Amino acid sequence: MVLLGIETSCDDTSAALVRNGKEVLSCVIASQDTLHAEYGGVVPELASRRHTESIVPVVEKALKGASVELEDIDGVGVTMGPGLPGSLLVGIAFAKAVAYATGKPLVAANHLKAHVHAVFLDGDDKETPAFPFVALVVSGGHTSLFLVRDHIEFQPLGHTRDDAAGEAFDKVAKLLGLGYPGGVLIDRLARRGNPGAVEFKRPYIAKDNLEFSFSGLKTAVLNHLKRHGTPNTEDELMDICASFQEAVVDVLTQKILWATEKTDVRGVVVCGGVACNLRLRERLKEVERERDIKTYIPEPRYCSDNGAMVAAYAYHLLRENMLANMDVTAISTIE
Ligand code: KG4
Ligand code: ZN
Repeated sequence: MVLLGIETSCDDTSAALVRNGKEVLSCVIASQDTLHAEYGGVVPELASRRHTESIVPVVEKALKGASVELEDIDGVGVTMGPGLPGSLLVGIAFAKAVAYATGKPLVAANHLKAHVHAVFLDGDDKETPAFPFVALVVSGGHTSLFLVRDHIEFQPLGHTRDDAAGEAFDKVAKLLGLGYPGGVLIDRLARRGNPGAVEFKRPYIAKDNLEFSFSGLKTAVLNHLKRHGTPNTEDELMDICASFQEAVVDVLTQKILWATEKTDVRGVVVCGGVACNLRLRERLKEVERERDIKTYIPEPRYCSDNGAMVAAYAYHLLRENMLANMDVTAISTIE
């Protein structure tokens, strides 16, 4: 079965053709980073307008890349939320039109479950996790832990109470006068910084608590800058980046360990944009060596928002006959 996956939940317009939920035939991503960079964050109105312009060329490019005709697909999967309503609606309206015109089934995918399915896509590391496993979705919009029982059934273990981890990266980058999106810039600068230079308090909330809270950490960076002034040298800047990043990575790693202890599960999937973070990836490999835990991280290109992960998850919904009606609409928050 070949599915067309469409993703427009935030600021990336993406379409992909994926066979049997894992073999990526093509995946096209039109990033809007430069459009939003001058505002230091995503402007919803601009994002949805750009999706409207990009969706047709992106889908056409994906079909061409896979050498697949639209009428030959077995179904169309689309992100229904959570995300920005205006952005989501562009993808949903387009997917409905495809389903209507081709008579193929329409599948509506939860964005977080789609992120987790990136781990099943063919990549360098062909090993995939066995169910059940713990999944951490860590992105610009979400920081959520789940116990994943099978492709469909996800038991929520904890979400963020305020900022998502990626949002904290982006906001701290803005405080430091770096560009947008800031996660990758902090990641790069932190590589040459000292993670022990500034001792930022780790927001664990309470022992064994699986919720997250990153807004205090962002404020701690702001207070540090108020007390010590903006960094004068590149060394100072790199030290702040490394210290902040280490605090986030400590919290994410610790909560993953608590989640595996609570659920008595040894497999862990970490996905979403922040899963591209080099230090987080390093620490997860350390955890794997030190504890009896196996970690699975999608390839970086499938960690950030993309249509392939949507097609991968939609394949399993389609197999279970969990189809969407033509009245499906955007769901902006986690149900
Ligand atoms: O999954 P994603 O593309 O979109 C959402 O669903 O939010 O994640 C984007 C987020 C942004 O906040 C970005 O700064 C962060 O992922 N990010 C990173 C890195 N690469 C992307 N954060 C830390 N280190 C990175 N290397
Ligand atoms: Zn995402």
